[in-house]
Amino acid sequence: MTYSDLKRYTESNRLAWNEVMPLHQRAASETLDKLFFQAGYVRLDDKEIGMLQQVGLKGKNVVHLCCNNGTELMSLKNLGAADCVGFDISDQAIQEASQRAARSRINCQFVRSDVYEIDRAFNNRFDIVYISAGCLGWLPDLELFFEKASALLRQGGLIFIHEIHPLAEMLPFDDDKQPVNLRIVEPYFKTEPYIDQGGLDYVGHSEYISTTTQYWFAHTLSDILMGLIKNHLLIEHFSEHETDISSGHRQVEEAKAGIPLSYILVGRNPG
Ligand SMILES: C[S@@+](CC[C@H](N)C(=O)[O-])C[C@H]1O[C@@H](n2cnc3c(N)ncnc32)[C@H](O)[C@@H]1O
Repeated sequence: MTYSDLKRYTESNRLAWNEVMPLHQRAASETLDKLFFQAGYVRLDDKEIGMLQQVGLKGKNVVHLCCNNGTELMSLKNLGAADCVGFDISDQAIQEASQRAARSRINCQFVRSDVYEIDRAFNNRFDIVYISAGCLGWLPDLELFFEKASALLRQGGLIFIHEIHPLAEMLPFDDDKQPVNLRIVEPYFKTEPYIDQGGLDYVGHSEYISTTTQYWFAHTLSDILMGLIKNHLLIEHFSEHETDISSGHRQVEEAKAGIPLSYILVGRNPG
């Protein structure tokens, strides 16, 4: 893929995220404000908190890539992280994150940037690169992404990924009107992106037809692992979980069908 193709995808996704953020804000901003006014509030699941504590978060400099409205990074700060910087391509998401952090007096820096174009001044500054639900699928080139992520780490730093499992991409999304019929609806191997208009309001659940087009890439587990391996990141932990962290597979999770819906991976930059 050429860099201009990559930018065509990411720029279109920027517009799609700018369009949906006001819908998310209408549905959740007031609640999020109230939650983060509580001292020490943390919006992460227990499994993830346990793993973060195991690798050591207190006093560490953390960068969150694809940070959206910043609630996860603010949670990491409340758990004891030191310098916290979040990057997201959406102007609207970064504005919301910056404003809420200021209102709740949580010291995080939020920067609007494509993850492929983060200013080199941030390189070698972080102990942990943090990646959470619904980031990797927006990224057209994983190998290049992990190269950029790795450059942000100081020697010995960690990449911490808590993501939607690639297998979940094959399953039907929740249906408000009827129970989902659990079956495979999409291929595992898919080189072309999913092209969609709308459907990003997983917070307020409103339906809309977008004027923008969004591109989502179904990366396989081997794409992810090879992206890390090719960038010399050493995998120190990998666990698969039946927990739905996508907000789209609750019904599959509740069916307790023994299907992995999320994973946690920790890799180290050996320097
Ligand atoms: C599903 S949201 C992440 C949600 C987040 N885990 C949370 O729970 O708040 C995905 C985010 O990735 C961002 N994003 C997509 N492509 C990006 C890119 N190329 N560079 C930076 N951010 C990007 C979007 O703007 C969006 O805010």
